[in-house]
Amino acid sequence: MIERTLAIIKPDACRKNYLGLILARYEKEGFRICAGKMQWLSQRQAEGFYHVHRERPFFSSLTRFMSSGPVLTLVLEKENAIADHRTLMGATDPQKAEGGTLRKLYGGSIEENAVHGSDSPETARFEIAYFFPSVEIF
Ligand code: CMP
Repeated sequence: MIERTLAIIKPDACRKNYLGLILARYEKEGFRICAGKMQWLSQRQAEGFYHVHRERPFFSSLTRFMSSGPVLTLVLEKENAIADHRTLMGATDPQKAEGGTLRKLYGGSIEENAVHGSDSPETARFEIAYFFPSVEIF
């Protein structure tokens, strides 16, 4: 089934100039980039986006990091996009991620792990709508 997923290229990867490499990899792996926006999130926006993690000990550090510089938010489309993007990203902790995955290649730590991806169809719906009105998705 053709699916859409929300991807974020996080502030660490933007700072390290990995945008082009990551976008090229998405296209190489068959994802169609159907929306994209560079933005500097406020901590409030990051808190709303990650509200499911609000009780976690890392919540305030995570939302500070996510609002520490620009991010590139994307909607990616392909067959099985949600699971395939998660495979391409690799484990949350770059040290535990498989070789060749985006987090292994470009992530620095469990928090500064280069990319985010939706983890289920319900999450993808919420996350895409959080950043993109339907007229901005092509
Ligand atoms: P992401 O896939 O964006 O979803 C939640 C984020 O929280 C995760 O990537 C990491 O950036 C961060 N995170 C998850 N677990 C930890 C942890 N144990 N310590 C710090 N940050 C974490």
